[in-house]
Amino acid sequence: MTMPLLEAKNLTRKFGALIAVNNVSLQLRQREIHAVIGTNGAGKSTLTYLLSGELPLSGGQVQLRGKDVSNWSQPARSQAGLGRSYQRNNIFLPLSVRENCRLAAQAKVQKPWQFWSAAQQCRRSLEAANYALEQAGLGKHAATTAANLSHGQKRQLEVAMCLAQQPDVLLLDEPLAGMGAEESDRMLGLLHQLKKNLAILLIEHDMDAVFAVADRLTVMVNGSVLASGLPDAIRNNAAVQTAYLGEGDHTADKPTDLLI
Ligand SMILES: Nc1ncnc2c1ncn2[C@@H]1O[C@H](COP(=O)(O)OP(=O)(O)OP(=O)(O)O)[C@@H](O)[C@H]1O
Ligand SMILES: [Mg+2]
Repeated sequence: MTMPLLEAKNLTRKFGALIAVNNVSLQLRQREIHAVIGTNGAGKSTLTYLLSGELPLSGGQVQLRGKDVSNWSQPARSQAGLGRSYQRNNIFLPLSVRENCRLAAQAKVQKPWQFWSAAQQCRRSLEAANYALEQAGLGKHAATTAANLSHGQKRQLEVAMCLAQQPDVLLLDEPLAGMGAEESDRMLGLLHQLKKNLAILLIEHDMDAVFAVADRLTVMVNGSVLASGLPDAIRNNAAVQTAYLGEGDHTADKPTDLLI
């Protein structure tokens, strides 16, 4: 087996008395979609913040290509190839689709002390932005104001903004939330394409979608890992069925503001 690109080792995060993430370990490999599923409040988003460096750990270690990055900032991890999207849209609505992507790319290449290479960086950012938009299927909407995109296109733009930073690991927090069937299918097609070159950690509630694309799954309950393994093993795991899969629609109890 190849070395994991990203590895969580016994990650723990406490918020006061609440243990939001409790001793969670998982591995993410090249050309793999590893889905993390679990009920509302299971700790999935918190886990992504720990991996991306936006929240400090209470315990454990994050490794990127075998290197301990637990004390690295989020920008440092991003520079090292770790990209992420958010459960809520994170785009600048008044700007064009291309400009959103270009700014994301620029955040990656920017080196403030190299002021003399600004023009060259600008060109590189634009190239990265255009390439990411094509990859994400938004090429023909590049000049559109982001506010005028459909909900699904906004989520595609979020993914394009990640791609503009040329990551090799992507953390996607509910990229299908609030999408209709057609938009979901388009996004799933995109994820299939992307995994040819990337490792993707996918947080998702839509079980049909998860089982359609995931190579490996981790199930979280109350901050802890209940089970982790290949899709068939997870589908047939009695504890998982009792705790999660048997419950029906897992988006039903989500507050609507999380479905933006
Ligand atoms: N900044 C915070 N301060 C205090 N508690 C928090 C904070 N962030 C998250 N929590 C709590 O940690 C737990 C895990 O939250 P988290 O958002 O990671 O769950 P989730 O699995 O992503 O849920 P959902 O499916 O609803 O998105 C919840 O009980 C939540 O209320
Ligand atoms: Mg969440």
